[in-house]
Amino acid sequence: MTMSIEITQEPPTHEDGEARLLIEVHDLVKHFGPVVALAGVSLDIQSSEVHCLLGDNGAGKSTLIKMLSGVHIPTKGDFFVDGKPVNFTSPRDALDAGIATVFQDLAMVPLLSITRNFFMGREPTRKIGPFSFMDMDFANHVAREEMRKIGIDIRDPQQAVGTLSGGERQCVAIARAVHFGAKVLILDEPTSALGVAQTSMVLKYIHRVRAKGIGVIFITHNVRHAYAVGDRFTVLNRGRTLGTFSKQEITLEELQTKMAGDKELQDLSDELGGTV
Ligand SMILES: Nc1ncnc2c1ncn2[C@@H]1O[C@H](COP(=O)(O)OP(=O)(O)OP(=O)(O)O)[C@@H](O)[C@H]1O
Ligand SMILES: [Mg+2]
Repeated sequence: MTMSIEITQEPPTHEDGEARLLIEVHDLVKHFGPVVALAGVSLDIQSSEVHCLLGDNGAGKSTLIKMLSGVHIPTKGDFFVDGKPVNFTSPRDALDAGIATVFQDLAMVPLLSITRNFFMGREPTRKIGPFSFMDMDFANHVAREEMRKIGIDIRDPQQAVGTLSGGERQCVAIARAVHFGAKVLILDEPTSALGVAQTSMVLKYIHRVRAKGIGVIFITHNVRHAYAVGDRFTVLNRGRTLGTFSKQEITLEELQTKMAGDKELQDLSDELGGTV
């Protein structure tokens, strides 16, 4: 079944001179022992853009974003946030620099409520005398309000996250990152496990997040999902980039051919390599 996702694009903000460079990496390399996961990748992320990271399994997408989010330390390369060099040694460092990541497993606790998952250790507190309490009414209000803003009506914020659909859960994770002030939002395969309606809900939300000035890095295998919301596309192949293309420079078909053609070549070389 083919699905069609049409999202009307606003003119990209980097043409009216307001876009800021949020992240810049030069020749980023990552080795895991003898494995070269990333062989020197350069790219940048601007404010108000959705930058899609495409590539086949094992291309190095997760490795790249794990360095941007402080999970892995680069073997080599330069990394700038807001024009200043950074050396992240933990995910906390990345969060403090405004880089929030929604990993595929979402880091949510299914049995806890939407509100609890939304705040996760950052709950608002109220003081009564010498005691500090979590202000549950206020927390519920914020969680419900933030979800309402993105068009998801939660009747009961005390409802367990495990009872939400996959798409709704993705949206809670994204809303949480936005609420806590992310300026770069990294989404690792947010639509891979979703059906058509849920995918379109998440894609619409990504589009709205971008309009707030946030730079979004959207990792996906699905060229159609990428093309529906993306402003620029970086294709990774075996730890290297095949280039970054703006939406004006590349059609959906060309992007698809780039991914598919490279895969076929890779399969062929694997096959020949195996028999020679
Ligand atoms: N911790 C690790 N130790 C050893 N090798 C690793 C490690 N993490 C990744 N790799 C290797 O690095 C390469 C890139 O992996 P990575 O997970 O970044 O790919 P990916 O593009 O995210 O793939 P997928 O689409 O399957 O998620 C792969 O060959 C992988 O086996
Ligand atoms: Mg991956």
